[in-house]
Amino acid sequence: MKLVTLPSVKGDYNLKSYEDMYTSFDWKDVEREFSWSETGKVNMAYEAIDRHANTFRKNKVALYYRDETRNEKYTFKEMKDLSNKAGNVFKAYGNVEKGDRVFIFMPRSPELYIATLGAIKLGAIVGPLFEAFMEGAVKDRLEDSEAKVLVTTPELLKRVPVDQLPALKTIFIVGSDIEEDDKYLDFLKYVKTASKDLEIEWVDRTDGLILHYTSGSTGKPKGVLHVHNAMIQQYQTAKWVLDLQEEDIYWCTADPGWVTGTSYGIFGPWLTGTSNVIVGGRFKPEDWYKTIEDFSVTVWYSAPTAFRMLMGAGDEIIKKFDLSCLRHVLSVGEPLNPEVIRWGMKVFNKRIHDTWWMTETGAHLICNYPCMEIKPGSMGKPIPGVEAAIIDDQGNELPPNRMGNLAIKKGWPSMMHTIWNNQAKYDSYFFPSGWYVSGDSAYMDEDGYFWFQGRVDDVIMTSGERVGPFEVESKLLEHPAVAEAGVIGKPDPVRGEIIKAFVALLEGYEESDELKGEIRQFVKTGLAAHAAPREIEFRDKLPKTRSGKIMRRVLKAWELDLPTGDLSTMED
Ligand code: PRX
Repeated sequence: MKLVTLPSVKGDYNLKSYEDMYTSFDWKDVEREFSWSETGKVNMAYEAIDRHANTFRKNKVALYYRDETRNEKYTFKEMKDLSNKAGNVFKAYGNVEKGDRVFIFMPRSPELYIATLGAIKLGAIVGPLFEAFMEGAVKDRLEDSEAKVLVTTPELLKRVPVDQLPALKTIFIVGSDIEEDDKYLDFLKYVKTASKDLEIEWVDRTDGLILHYTSGSTGKPKGVLHVHNAMIQQYQTAKWVLDLQEEDIYWCTADPGWVTGTSYGIFGPWLTGTSNVIVGGRFKPEDWYKTIEDFSVTVWYSAPTAFRMLMGAGDEIIKKFDLSCLRHVLSVGEPLNPEVIRWGMKVFNKRIHDTWWMTETGAHLICNYPCMEIKPGSMGKPIPGVEAAIIDDQGNELPPNRMGNLAIKKGWPSMMHTIWNNQAKYDSYFFPSGWYVSGDSAYMDEDGYFWFQGRVDDVIMTSGERVGPFEVESKLLEHPAVAEAGVIGKPDPVRGEIIKAFVALLEGYEESDELKGEIRQFVKTGLAAHAAPREIEFRDKLPKTRSGKIMRRVLKAWELDLPTGDLSTMED
């Protein structure tokens, strides 16, 4: 097979030729790196796992897994066999067929990855759910997607309102002592005896692969559908931006419930045949450093909140570990403060490389790739094959140094395919001229570097997680004491933003700290811990438009002591 001879990015790669590549690069050339360019048979799981299992990488470790009780490793060949077995189980006992939605709701574990790959091998669309989701969040997603099969654990099953989900036919439970019946099946029992030969379902490049629910400023979370074609860009950016090379040990700290945990926690590293470290359990600075040391992690992908928490834990802890294995460190999800970059230089002797992209975009778009000069505070430049610009509200391109909407020209391979059940929403992301509007505001400097300024809408980024204020407000309104609720992101030095709720109480309820705690707990158990407001402030009345919409802009101005701006639409 002919391989494209794109230069491998060694960190010492010369920027000038990179600039040349920007003009000559064509995504079509990358297609030749996949086996389907010759065979015509497309399937992400085949490209990510099986292809390597048939080469010199057969006995190379694909997955290192560790948590409080387990410490395991799996080669590419083992991952191939196990995911085939999982595929056979889904087919035989869950009647899973191409296009069916298979949701996976469990903490990180090898089984999560094996189940995901097995379902993909059948052409199913996988919906990964973050383990912290509570009943309301789980129900919304399973209902909207009409999931047919769910894989979960006995513990998390308690949060699945099965009777309210008529489309859900089979639930595979991963655990021990499972009581089975027609609907509830013991996953591991069947995997154990299943055949390791599976007929893979070959798909079209535009067939569904993964469904990630994400938040906007209005409405419930929406299902962003990615398709197999995304592999082109995930592979290429894993090479260029993550700089993954044969001998690397790679660790992405994101959970597959979020897009970073699939695009770069599953697909990117395995498409490039890289050894992937997965760690379960809670965040503890010592454990994180120990992970780097124990696995000799060379490439590490994390998020600003995590770096800031490590920074806050102090440099004394770092001295206990040998982190000299680290070669390349990257960040995503929120603005990366120059202060954090300086800290990274001091403690790891590495510049942390920022990357910008979104759930909707499926893969990296604007990045600091290893060969580039970093301007601390900038997200970097568009990768070759991606055209980015700052546009005004009419879709006109703005000159350098003018703030506006960060937009990307349609046509990058990993772009979402649709919004599940909501094509109109999908269409609303685009200008007729072909610009995808990100919802972020930014400017571009005269050297072509992009600088993030904030969200245009009310979306909150807290600890790198994207939370829609509407979802939180809706949950708050379900609390018996709450008459009105408005939710904003409040700047926070560690978490980027925290969620702050303004609440007006119904007649007969007294303001108290106890009630605040109760309301907070209500959101925590109904939605998710990360979506619960850290601060609640009671107000007699909230600012509303004449049509009754809470004016979050005014709440934010109150909070930050800023001018409230135009109040002409506010009710009396
Ligand atoms: O506001 C931007 C912020 O995260 C948003 C996308 O969130 P999500 O879809 O959850 O995906 C996060 C991980 C891919 C963006 O609209 N964001 C992402 N990366 C950066 C960022 N903000 C500043 N700097 C970044 N590098």
